[in-house]
Amino acid sequence: MFPGRPLFAALLCFSLIIQLGVSFAPFNVSYDHRALLIDGKRRMLISAGIHYPRATPEMWPDLIAKSKEGGADVIQTYVFWNGHEPVRRQYNFEGRYDIVKFVKLVGSSGLYLHLRIGPYVCAEWNFGGFPVWLRDIPGIEFRTDNAPFKDEMQRFVKKIVDLMQKEMLFSWQGGPIIMLQIENEYGNVESSFGLRGKDYVKWAARMALELDAGVPWVMCQQADAPDIIINACNGFYCDAFWPNSANKPKLWTEDWNGWFASWGGRTPKRPVEDIAFAVARFFQRGGSFHNYYMYFGGTNFGRSSGGPFYATSYDYDAPIDEYGLLSQPKWGHLKELHAAIKLCEPALVAVDSPQYIKLGPMQEAHVYRVKESLYSTQSGNGSSCSAFLANIDEHKTASVTFLGQVYKLPPWSVSILPDCRTTVFNTAKVGAQTSIKTVEFDLPLFRNISVTQPLMVQNKISYVPKTWMTLKEPISVWSENNFTIQGVLEHLNVTKDHSDYLWRITRINVSAEDISFWEENQVIPTLSIDSMRDILHIFVNGQLIGSVIGHWVKVVQPIQLLQGYNDLVLLSQTVGLQNYGAFLEKDGAGFKGQVKLTRFKNGEIDLSEYSWTYQVGLRGEFQKIFTIDESEKAEWTDLTPDASPSTFTWYKTFFDAPNGENPVALDLGSMGKGQAWVNGHHIGRYWTRVAPKDGCGKCDYRGHYHTSKCATNCGNPTQIWYHIPRSWLQASNNLLVLFEETGGKPFEISVKSRSTQTICAEVSESHYPSLQNWSPSDFIDQNSKNKMTPEMHLQCDDGHTISSIEFASYGTPQGSCQMFSQGQCHAPNSLALVSKACQGKGSCVIRILNSAFGGDPCRGIVKTLAVEAKCTPSSTTSSSQL
Ligand code: GAL
Repeated sequence: MFPGRPLFAALLCFSLIIQLGVSFAPFNVSYDHRALLIDGKRRMLISAGIHYPRATPEMWPDLIAKSKEGGADVIQTYVFWNGHEPVRRQYNFEGRYDIVKFVKLVGSSGLYLHLRIGPYVCAEWNFGGFPVWLRDIPGIEFRTDNAPFKDEMQRFVKKIVDLMQKEMLFSWQGGPIIMLQIENEYGNVESSFGLRGKDYVKWAARMALELDAGVPWVMCQQADAPDIIINACNGFYCDAFWPNSANKPKLWTEDWNGWFASWGGRTPKRPVEDIAFAVARFFQRGGSFHNYYMYFGGTNFGRSSGGPFYATSYDYDAPIDEYGLLSQPKWGHLKELHAAIKLCEPALVAVDSPQYIKLGPMQEAHVYRVKESLYSTQSGNGSSCSAFLANIDEHKTASVTFLGQVYKLPPWSVSILPDCRTTVFNTAKVGAQTSIKTVEFDLPLFRNISVTQPLMVQNKISYVPKTWMTLKEPISVWSENNFTIQGVLEHLNVTKDHSDYLWRITRINVSAEDISFWEENQVIPTLSIDSMRDILHIFVNGQLIGSVIGHWVKVVQPIQLLQGYNDLVLLSQTVGLQNYGAFLEKDGAGFKGQVKLTRFKNGEIDLSEYSWTYQVGLRGEFQKIFTIDESEKAEWTDLTPDASPSTFTWYKTFFDAPNGENPVALDLGSMGKGQAWVNGHHIGRYWTRVAPKDGCGKCDYRGHYHTSKCATNCGNPTQIWYHIPRSWLQASNNLLVLFEETGGKPFEISVKSRSTQTICAEVSESHYPSLQNWSPSDFIDQNSKNKMTPEMHLQCDDGHTISSIEFASYGTPQGSCQMFSQGQCHAPNSLALVSKACQGKGSCVIRILNSAFGGDPCRGIVKTLAVEAKCTPSSTTSSSQL
């Protein structure tokens, strides 16, 4: 053999990495019944769900880095067909849709990628990811054995696979893609399609395989997935799931670690103790790949949110919040969990199936013990035995005996023992810090003082632009681009979803006999529509007389009509197209059934026999008055601060970006419903719709999670803050344009910066030592293991430092974050010591040890350190250890 070949190959590989942006030496991916095999080796993989268009390319590197730091091995995303092919055969792979760039960034960070092509994705994304033009293809039926649909689906899936291959992004090319997905959750709707559904599943599987992508494919929630495809689980818990063949590994493609918000709904929250429990149970019971749906949820910018009625924020209560900041303690606690699982990985991959030991009525252990003969070959230098001890009792702590030792297991928790002896982590014991974020005004927001005005809003000082301009949207046809036809048309057939809005205009002739009929019988005529979605505004003779909100609800609206001709204008509106269910192409929008006027002298008037004039969208929308160039051409007039709230009105102003690097939020709490643009970027729909007053009570992590458990924000608008990505802003003179439908107070709008200002943590002597410093070999070396002590880790957002310690007590402190107080036992130097270790630093670590606090402040009592600190922006950060 040519002796220089390995070196040459290595050099070639290295230069390829540099030139093509490929990230790894080429490797292959396969699987067996236990796990994915990366270059022939089983792996336990943690995946973080991030949808690239729900952030900006400028945010991607930081989100990926925070996922990696949190312990992820893999990033998972869907592919968003309607974003990539907004017009048939016209593709968009730019900006937020630059999927190639996203995948390359993942690879160059050393992470793998799971690409879920779908192309149906659900995802609370408009129309489930389908381009709306798809429904116009003659004879099309979505997601079934239908040739026009299959042709389009195949073409798009092939397009993506080819693109990934051309860009060298598959693992065998040195790229990060280790796994793909075809379809999504079809198992939930398959029965609606009968035998054709079954054929479709087989076709989709075969079609995917024939694309020769060279990595495994999964179907999520598809119990009858053919042999060649791995069927994976989604849900809040997947430990009880098993794939449909003994040859497939147990994969969890969607762990719903939070939930999405709907306009007028509460804010969903899932406690981190329960998420950690679900994840640990999954690995305990033989799982090997787990993905957080979502690790970062982000924002439904523009009109991308699905529906009906999904909010613009897709925060999802994820470990990284909508703005890209860490959500604590979620991120930190899960990071510890991932480290604990990684310590077990050598034993987990070496064992085909765990040994089950019943420890009590609701307690059980799963033991992964490597047979001695296998130990050296399969588990490397890790432990030869790892175990998970679970207490699934929702109420009581249990004491169990496992391999001769007693363990205390809190209710609804799992303890992880990488060496089958030492508990390094319990899912219910949270030592990670809590972060309290504030959205606040950063002085000076508006540098040009002439356009600023301090205002008291809900007793808080806030700054808003002083100058606002306004423009009325016509309540009628506004361009020649309208048409008149007899009949009531389906909404999407007309709008093609180019706008939420469809104007429908007709004329009603009222006779003198009708008027006297109404007077004599003391009735008023009524507009009746059998079924309507999502919003309808009704105008008679230029006046808004009623609005209806709902998803396929009946409309019964009394209307006052005058003798002679009356103009009836119906504005039908969508708020995110349906993204879930069978037959999406038939779902449509606007009205269904009869549209009529009742209580006329001669009975009912069937309005489908009338001529209607249709106009799609808003004038301002189509004239693009939200862009810098076009906004100058529109005829804005000055708005006076005392102007009363006005419906169907455009507003514009200019504002300066908050100083610094903090993420930026637009506070639209004073407005009604509409859409907002900043420098021409559509930041989304807004709606100050209020969540129900009740249903937010106490949150107990124990027991099965469901979406209304632990919800917050009752009685408040679902969303008032809207993310303006920093990269869409310049330092000053940013154009803000709003279209307001229902009336609001623009003078109270403010631009704020979001950051973590308060951090708190509570760690006791009984907490487990931080796992970040451990490696599997520590379990062989009992000595170094015994030296480990619990630690408190405090960290501000990037670019911030701990400016003061507001509270510190080592002893028996009481209360919780922002309400801590000293208990009976307190080390007097607590505050001084913590301040010394942390003040002026970006992060710090404090060991929970008597000697660190000048001796034991109270013998025989378990001591806890509680700290509350303030974070403020800084230019330099450093870290230190006490
Ligand atoms: C799943 C679906 C996801 C998302 C999720 C709820 O069933 O596959 O795309 O919609 O529900 O957030």
